[in-house]
Amino acid sequence: MAGQSADPLAAAEQRAAATVRQMRPDEKTILTHSVMPIDVHKTGAKFPEDAIFGAGYTPSISRLGVPALKETDASLGVAYLEGGRKDWATALPSAIAQAATWNPALVMRGGAMIGGEARAKGFNVLLAGGVNLVRDPRGGRTFEYFSEDPLLSGVLAGAAITGVQSNHIISTIKHLALNGQETGRKFVDMRISDAAARESDLLAFQIGIEQGHPGAVMCAYNRVNGHYACDSDYLLNRVLKHDWSYKGFVMSDWGAVHGVGAALNGLDRQSGEQLDPDVYFDSRLAAKAAADPAYAARLDDMNKRVLTAIYANGLDKFPASPGGAIDFAGNAELSAEVARQGIVLLKNDGRILPLAATAKSIAVIGGYADGGVLSGAGSSQVQGKDGPAVVRPKNGSGSQFISEQYHRSSPLAAIKARAGNATVTFRDGRYIADAVQRARQAEVAIVFATQWMAEGIDVPDLSLPYGQDELIAAVAAANPRTIVVLETGSAVKMPWLDKVAGVVEAWYPGARGGEAIAAVLFGEANPSGRLPITFPASEAQLPRPHLDGSDWVESAGLGEAKVPERQLSADYDIEGSDVGYRWFSRTGARPLFPFGYGLSYTSFEARNLKISGFNASVTIRNTGARAGDEVAQLYLLDRAGAHKRRLVGFSRISLEPGVEKRISIRIDPRLLADWNGSGWQMPAGAYEFAIGKDAETMVTRASIRLPARTWSGPAQ
Ligand code: BGC
Repeated sequence: MAGQSADPLAAAEQRAAATVRQMRPDEKTILTHSVMPIDVHKTGAKFPEDAIFGAGYTPSISRLGVPALKETDASLGVAYLEGGRKDWATALPSAIAQAATWNPALVMRGGAMIGGEARAKGFNVLLAGGVNLVRDPRGGRTFEYFSEDPLLSGVLAGAAITGVQSNHIISTIKHLALNGQETGRKFVDMRISDAAARESDLLAFQIGIEQGHPGAVMCAYNRVNGHYACDSDYLLNRVLKHDWSYKGFVMSDWGAVHGVGAALNGLDRQSGEQLDPDVYFDSRLAAKAAADPAYAARLDDMNKRVLTAIYANGLDKFPASPGGAIDFAGNAELSAEVARQGIVLLKNDGRILPLAATAKSIAVIGGYADGGVLSGAGSSQVQGKDGPAVVRPKNGSGSQFISEQYHRSSPLAAIKARAGNATVTFRDGRYIADAVQRARQAEVAIVFATQWMAEGIDVPDLSLPYGQDELIAAVAAANPRTIVVLETGSAVKMPWLDKVAGVVEAWYPGARGGEAIAAVLFGEANPSGRLPITFPASEAQLPRPHLDGSDWVESAGLGEAKVPERQLSADYDIEGSDVGYRWFSRTGARPLFPFGYGLSYTSFEARNLKISGFNASVTIRNTGARAGDEVAQLYLLDRAGAHKRRLVGFSRISLEPGVEKRISIRIDPRLLADWNGSGWQMPAGAYEFAIGKDAETMVTRASIRLPARTWSGPAQ
């Protein structure tokens, strides 16, 4: 676990320092800024021939053997950017779906897959590794992030990054830090105490960095305690570079730099420079360095850091070039496997699922299920072969960039393929009476419901849009054997929950999502996903029932709202480090579905939990009739007499029916501790742990006494 592997960045640092010593002054501001090789302002801008249409380009320094940096988004696959390259790529399920697998090894394979496609297209930097905690399920990028828990998010981000970088390309981890909402994302100020940040959002980054060693960290648009994240001495110099000894480089988000002074506060590279008011990290930086030793020292350090990332990942020794072979069929199958493992069965009354092969008629309704499966929008949008099945624009401009797009993997076709002789009908759900009529005639009704999310736009609440809640309620009233399949970026409320027999959360299930959904519905795959975020019963249960700024910030799609006169801030000290289920545990509020929740077609038992030091062991048994996967979730419940609820370790395990295994789970001691201002601190006393079915349902408990301890640095 944390802090076990040697840091490849530290090993590359010496070589980088030697190269910096050979650099001429005019070469020192080549690596410190990058352009977006796209004519964003439609001025007819031209880019060097070797630049690839994508997010970023920095030219090579051939005299020193330094390769050009060619950058593309993102965590779910190689982004499409409205088709500028006229190519396509394999879409993984959304990051939150990946997280629902609780399977770092699989997430690592996903990272290796998308990194391989990036490399084959000639890119050597993938803007992946989105690890921000879901502090508000209305956040527009929830689908791009893993979870509300620092351990789960950090471990999975580390795994994804390891996979990406196994291709000799650089991965980022992003967006440092506290990008908790999109409303006013370029100016909102997240207020949070140092301790709360270190125990939550920053811990996710810290674990992700320790385990994945990303070559670069992308800082966020938002402010943190009054300072822009990309100009924050606290985040970049103190926490990241000093306390965590991070050796790679900090790149800005695209359009997140406000002046040359950011260099002194720890920013190493200005990205997408034409999106900022000015290019700060070129001649302006050179002039500063010529006049001011502090800037001169920083300039050398900035170069050293970019070069460290290049060397650590072998970008110079294993150059990527366009035209590499891609196994699209194999990659699609991997995407399907992630989807199958990440789909969460939320309700299964009367064992309506898996669907019996004997069903004679199935009414499929809504969600463009005849076309494909939903995906999230923004810079992470991936498109597969032949483009999306459906494009539903957000606004009248018809722009594809922020539009509701469905990957070409039709759940309806996949259901038909498995339904044998059953009659399968489809209604699009636009007209409720029409859908109800069909549902009434069928043995089973399956309603597909969607919640679209996009970078730059928060959802105003957790309802299903377009009247889908009413549609589901009406269908369920007509046919009690109604199953709802959700394709959502985040949590949703379910006012109809009591009326339906089954609920399947499929998230945005990626390139083969339709097949994966059908595989779960018909029992080819035994559902094993577990919720990586809490599903609240209502917005009133959230730390901020009202999403700050949602009533007055005018979004221009990508959060480009002009910095207003009025200040916008979000008080993250309300919940502090008690994000998500920890907040629910603290307030005693009952969610709709708790963090960690998920049903299976088999059943499991956990017993005999033993804790020894920072290791737990427990026996997990498959007590049902079919093979399945269980996620053993280890929670801290009580620490020295104080109520706690913290995930401190987890392990996913596959078991044949009737089989049991003793498994061990390592506990990251930081989850037992608090940040005391300069290090981690655990009080002496009894520590009570339990294996939970989810964050609210504990099944086997154990206590040990632990001595007081304090430490700084990673794990001990
Ligand atoms: C997003 C980043 C992305 C970058 C480059 C920004 O708008 O916030 O996540 O990597 O664009 O496309």
